[in-house]
Amino acid sequence: MNILLLGSGGREHALAWKIKQSPKTDKLFIAPGNAGTAQIGINAAVSETDFEALKDFSLKNHIQMVVVGPEVPLVKGIVDFYRNDEQLNHIPIIGPSREGSRLEGSKDFAKAFMMRHNIPTAKYFSVTKSNLTEGLSFLKTMKAPYVLKADGLAAGKGVLIIDNLAEAEKELQAMLNGSFGDAGNTVVIEEFLSGIECSVFVITDGKSYKILPEAKDYKRIGEGDTGPNTGGMGAVSPVSFADKTFMEKVEKQIIIPTVNGLQTEQIDYKGFIFIGLINVNGEPMVIEYNCRMGDPETEVVMLRIQSDLVELLEGAFNGNLSEKELIVDPRTAVTVMLVSEGYPGNYPKGKVITGLEKVQGSMIFHAGTISDENGILTNGGRVMAISSYGKSKDDALKQSFFNAQIIDFEGKYYRKDIGFDIK
Ligand code: AMP
Ligand code: GLY
Repeated sequence: MNILLLGSGGREHALAWKIKQSPKTDKLFIAPGNAGTAQIGINAAVSETDFEALKDFSLKNHIQMVVVGPEVPLVKGIVDFYRNDEQLNHIPIIGPSREGSRLEGSKDFAKAFMMRHNIPTAKYFSVTKSNLTEGLSFLKTMKAPYVLKADGLAAGKGVLIIDNLAEAEKELQAMLNGSFGDAGNTVVIEEFLSGIECSVFVITDGKSYKILPEAKDYKRIGEGDTGPNTGGMGAVSPVSFADKTFMEKVEKQIIIPTVNGLQTEQIDYKGFIFIGLINVNGEPMVIEYNCRMGDPETEVVMLRIQSDLVELLEGAFNGNLSEKELIVDPRTAVTVMLVSEGYPGNYPKGKVITGLEKVQGSMIFHAGTISDENGILTNGGRVMAISSYGKSKDDALKQSFFNAQIIDFEGKYYRKDIGFDIK
């Protein structure tokens, strides 16, 4: 079948790599893709949020399945767009409806959903300009540090963690006055949770589910988890503390009530659920939901799925996911992200990338790259992910770090301590 994958990051290169391995895949198109996806499929110069252009493209190229990588088209309602269009509604599209995508698109919606279904999460209070006084009183009842979250999508930058009450009060008001644009019209104040984080991924057809390999990502730019947040500097799977006992709690207390909650609320959800968890003294608590796979977690999770991903996606769409098999590779997978100097602040683009042909024993998933007559050039802050298998985490990391030295471009930076905080 002809498959159209939307997005242009390392996550999409890893999804494309896995989809391409399926005997069910004929042509694979990636819109808009990057220099890496161009090597395994056909890049289409169409934005993932231009629904009319995607419609044209889908019809002209006889697309038989659409897989949505990033959250923005989902939150904007791409699934509803395909379902409600007479010419498109025969095409399976993998991802939640606009309503389902609110689990990521609105933190207030996600918190209220968790409350309705008794899913463990931090205490919270949602504030708008109209209940600011109550909001400020709630903030005073919390202990430092104070967690403020813009309700809407903010490209991973909508969470502030502030040590001091006066500053938190000031920031809360700034957010309500537009410091995060419309995303901050509602602000969720949350109790601070202390523990180690882990990303859990589920694929669901809306009734049944399969738990994909879990992963831990490294969000901060600096070693030892210091400095500003990035889109993700590396990932490891499996996660040592997510052992059988912990994952049983995750399934019973979080995954089952989430899938059942979607079903009882009649929310159309056929796709991935990404649950950001924190382990608080052995108890899993939800930090956030995302309505898509994680990046860079996908660059390790795809390595650990042995089964045919297209089969699983078909199961999610057709409602027979429970008949499909998920086989997990027992090996460890890691990824190390090469980024441009200056990221996550300003960074240059257009630097020539060398050494790719000398890479051995790792998979390279491009994130911000582009190709022209000079070869492959940097085109983003996160440039490429180097993913490797190993018998152990250290073994896999050794391989990725070896190749991180071989690939080069001016201003290359990567964290040399990925996986430092887990066994
Ligand atoms: P989010 O965008 O919701 O994933 O939040 C970004 C990051 O902020 C998370 O990965 C956590 O490290 C941190 N964070 C969010 N909520 C909390 C919380 N309630 N307690 C402690 N840390 C949090
Ligand atoms: N790695 C975190 C995310 O994709 O949001």
